[in-house]
Amino acid sequence: MGRDNFSLQAVVRPNIWALKPYRCARDDYSTGILLDANENSYGTSFPLGVTPAILPQQAGSGEDSYTDRHLERYPDPHQADVKASIAAFRGLPKTDCFFLGVGSDESLDLIIRVFCTPAKDKVLICPPTYGMYSVCAQINDVEVVKVPLDVEKGRFQMQLDKIKATVDADPSIKVIFLCSPGNPTGTLLNHADIKSLLEYPGYNGVIVVDEAYIDFCPDGSSVCGWVGEYPNLIVTQTLSKSFGLAGIRLGVAISSPEIAQIFNNTKAPYNISTPTSILARAALAKDGVAQMQQHVTSILAQRDYLITELVKLPGVGPIIGGNHANFVLAPILGPDGTPSNDRAFKLYKTMAESEGVVVRYRGSELGCEGCLRVTVGTEEENRTLLEKLRRLLQQL
Ligand SMILES: Cc1ncc(COP(=O)(O)O)c(C=O)c1O
Repeated sequence: MGRDNFSLQAVVRPNIWALKPYRCARDDYSTGILLDANENSYGTSFPLGVTPAILPQQAGSGEDSYTDRHLERYPDPHQADVKASIAAFRGLPKTDCFFLGVGSDESLDLIIRVFCTPAKDKVLICPPTYGMYSVCAQINDVEVVKVPLDVEKGRFQMQLDKIKATVDADPSIKVIFLCSPGNPTGTLLNHADIKSLLEYPGYNGVIVVDEAYIDFCPDGSSVCGWVGEYPNLIVTQTLSKSFGLAGIRLGVAISSPEIAQIFNNTKAPYNISTPTSILARAALAKDGVAQMQQHVTSILAQRDYLITELVKLPGVGPIIGGNHANFVLAPILGPDGTPSNDRAFKLYKTMAESEGVVVRYRGSELGCEGCLRVTVGTEEENRTLLEKLRRLLQQL
């Protein structure tokens, strides 16, 4: 059905719409004797031989672009090769729908800066959810409106009618942040609900679907293929999770070409570094994707093992949420058999400070009473975690 009456100009901040983007030196020329960008013509201050050791083998092989072999040069501002690799991996036909950011966190901040005028516009979030939406909003002096997920029995789905009533009543809401699968819920949002919001004529802002954990979900779970149909949809993804590349900081926002162009106009010119670009391309090549898929298979098997073993521990309640990501949400029970924040927090602190195993206390999140969020570890790490939990639950 799509959204025919959506006006991008009406939702983008007027100063951003009017922005004449900075034209950086590498937008013009990138070969020849480059005396245009105040780089260091004498080269990088690494001891000889160190650079190749931290970069993949192909760096300097002659097949790479100029910037790959010259870290003293600013990186490619457009990163066309990384975008082509992502398009191939996600099965998207073109690369003009991408913005690349320093992790998803840069995309989330940029979305707020592009669409929300400080002290005027608002964002809507559905707690319990990823904490950075609120933090970015606060940094940008943007108010956060909360419409909680339906947390009954750990369902963690949207309350569609409430969201619609809220946006009806408040046209200053410019961005809705959805997280699918959610953090800390681990739950994929219903596609029909997302579609219903995208098509809701009473809302003229944009909808962000944060898919940081999407590769841990069954095939067909991503909505990134919908961007051709919905001009009000932005999907954020990252190499931090399934690809195991949190250290390189690479996130991607997928949207209409018009929104992507605005993001690319607004970003810092050289936000993606050359080492990040090289490593991302290696990860997104055929062998890198195969390795990622192997890791995901192992993580899913270990997630099943953790779920099975955690609930056998006296003092752990039934795991809540959808278990669609690389973590599980385990309620810790008090003496009366109900989830206990007090006991969960003590367990979390003791595990971290005396046992050297760090999980995340999530008991203060809505619908997560007494919960610890446990990232799926290796087989050995999970066994150690379970042993220590079993012992501490008897003692505490
Ligand atoms: C839901 C969600 N979105 C985004 C991020 C941040 O991802 P990145 O490392 O790409 O900034 C996280 C990290 O934990 C997350 O849980």
